[in-house]
Amino acid sequence: MTKKILVCDGMDSSIFSKLLNNQEFSVYPEAKNPQEIVRKEARDADALVIRSSTKVTKDFIDSCSNLKLVIRAGEGTDNIDKAYCKEKGIKVANTPGANNNSAAEHAIALMFTLLRKTAWANSSMQTGKWDKARFTGNEMTNKTIGVIGFGRIGQLVAKRLIGFDPEILFYDPFISSHSIGYDNIKKVDDLETIFKKSDIITVHVPLVNQTKNLIDKKHFSLMKNNAIFVNAARGGIVHEGDLLDALKNKSIRAAALDVFLNEPLKEKTDLHEIENLILTPHLGGSTQEAQYRVGEMAYHQLKEFFMNDNLLNEVRA
Ligand code: MLT
Repeated sequence: MTKKILVCDGMDSSIFSKLLNNQEFSVYPEAKNPQEIVRKEARDADALVIRSSTKVTKDFIDSCSNLKLVIRAGEGTDNIDKAYCKEKGIKVANTPGANNNSAAEHAIALMFTLLRKTAWANSSMQTGKWDKARFTGNEMTNKTIGVIGFGRIGQLVAKRLIGFDPEILFYDPFISSHSIGYDNIKKVDDLETIFKKSDIITVHVPLVNQTKNLIDKKHFSLMKNNAIFVNAARGGIVHEGDLLDALKNKSIRAAALDVFLNEPLKEKTDLHEIENLILTPHLGGSTQEAQYRVGEMAYHQLKEFFMNDNLLNEVRA
C-alpha cells in the first residue's frame, strides 16, 4: 500500500522528491498552512514531517485516521503531544544534531547584536542619523559567558566562542564533563552563580515540565547591570513578564529573544514596546544548510521506518 507522507512547515522539500519516484510513497511537500491544508491532508496521512509551526495536539491527532509516525525535522518536540501519540500507538522521532550548528550560530549572532548594538544602529541610520556615540558597544573577548544547558547546542556555542578567550560557566544537572578542548570552562551547581557572575547569558535547555519558567525575576535581579541575556532555545523557559520588567527597570542592560511563549508572536505585544530588547522570529534553525540537513535526515528515517521497520531517533513521551 502506498504511504502518504505530509511534509509541513517549510523545509527543503527537494530531498523528499526522491521519494516521489518510489512506488511505495506519495509525498505532499510543503503543506505550509497548519490550519487548513495540513489538517485536511493529514487526515489520511501515514506520516508527518513537521518543524515548529504545526502543533500536533490531541485534537489534531484525533482528526488523523492513519497516522503512524511524526518526525520533528529539528530538535524540540514540545509542539507534539507525545503522551497522546503514545496512547494512540503513533511513533515520534526527531533529527538530533541536524540543525544544531545553525541554532548555536544564531545565539552567537544575537550576542553580538546586543554587544555591538548593530540592530539599533541600523534602525537609527535608516532615519538618516549618524549617531556614533549612542551605539558604542562592548567586546566579546575575555567576557564571562554563562551557558544554561550544556547539551549539543550549549556545547557548540561554547566551542564556537573559544576564540574570544572567555571564561565559560555552564549549568546543567545532567552533564558532568565536556570534551570541547578548552580549559577555562567550569560547571556550576546552581543557576544563581550563572546570573551573578556572567556578562553574557545564553539559554540552551529544552522546554519540558522541569524547565517551564526556570528563569524568572529572582534570577534577573542577580544579573550585573551591564550583562546581556539571550534566549534562542524555547519560549516558556523564561518568564516573559519578569524579563520585560527587568529590561524596563534597566536592572539588566539588554536581551534578545528568538523564541516566545506563544508563537507566532502577535502583531503588537508588550515585547514590541521594549527598546532594549531585540526580537527575531524563531530563526535559530532557519538556514538553508540546516533545512537541507533536517530534511535529509527525516527522509532517511522515513525510508527506514516504512521499508525496513526500523525507527530511528525515537523521542519517547
Ligand atoms: C528546533 O527545535 O529544532 C529549533 O527550534 C529549530 C526549528 O525547528 O525551527
